[in-house]
Amino acid sequence: NWTMVNIAEESIEAVRAQVGDRRAICGLSGGVDSAVAAALVQRAIGDKLTCVYVDHGLMRKGESEQVEKDFVAATGVNLKVVDAEERFLDALAGVTDPEEKRKIIGREFIRVFEAAAREISADGDVEFLVQGTLYPDVVESGGGTGTANIKSHHNVGGLPDDLQFELIEPLRTLFKDEVRALGEQLGLPGEIVWRQPFPGPGLGIRIIGAVDRERLDLLREADAIAREELTRAGLDRDVWQFPVVLLADVRSVGVQGDGRTYGHPIVLRPVSSEDAMTADWSRLPYELLERISTRITNEVREVNRVVVDITSKPPGTIEWE
Ligand code: XMP
Repeated sequence: NWTMVNIAEESIEAVRAQVGDRRAICGLSGGVDSAVAAALVQRAIGDKLTCVYVDHGLMRKGESEQVEKDFVAATGVNLKVVDAEERFLDALAGVTDPEEKRKIIGREFIRVFEAAAREISADGDVEFLVQGTLYPDVVESGGGTGTANIKSHHNVGGLPDDLQFELIEPLRTLFKDEVRALGEQLGLPGEIVWRQPFPGPGLGIRIIGAVDRERLDLLREADAIAREELTRAGLDRDVWQFPVVLLADVRSVGVQGDGRTYGHPIVLRPVSSEDAMTADWSRLPYELLERISTRITNEVREVNRVVVDITSKPPGTIEWE
């Protein structure tokens, strides 16, 4: 794809000119935007870029490994991984209110990222922060170049004054489909390039009720089954997002084997959409829904019921929280 080759080369040149021999950091979220931005800047300045991946323990099955292994293998990027699961789970203990969860996750994320940025800066000043801002983000925020705040996949504010960076935003003129094409051009793994949008607070807002490790593990298993079967059916690129939600505070009666069970329901929420502002529930084939339901109830302990959400947005939102 010639256009993409040109866009990639021009952007790499522009970043090189902007940064010179100074240093930059980039926060990876597991999403396509930050991954493509980081890969591009890595091509431009190599080891002078350090990426930070905060593992908050709220990711889906295999996603942290995708960043820590596959992304690094594909790009050769310098990566600092911060395992912060325990810290996030402690902070979230007992919290059920969705906005409260978001606030806590956002706050902890900033703190952990800040500490990592300070550590990286300690051996030589870091002057730039790479962000995966896309053209629609630029338009939405009124078009100005912002001061350095971590791109709000957590919808939270900026870094403290002593950690001010100049921004590198190599995707500022691009739309999502162009970013994916660029990601392919840069040799990124398909699982990252074609990843569906995933909220910053992760599975934390897909557990209705308080978040703990056991519940996260249940949800991760159910979610992995749904994703695997969707992909196997060849429909993963037709569905905009497919939240799988654990109703952790609800129990219903079931019968499994020769016993009565009293377990949790899982909600499947596949939607089609253009921009997440409105959405329609996806009419997935019955056979696919049946396979997902059978596998989840057979393979996921404590889950004895699977339901499908057939609400459009509006009035429903895509996420349950
Ligand atoms: P709703 O649920 O409002 O979601 O229909 C619209 C889109 O936004 C995503 N979403 C979030 N993304 N932080 C994020 O980065 C959040 O707190 C958050 N909440 C919802 C959601 O996945 C969908 O794509």
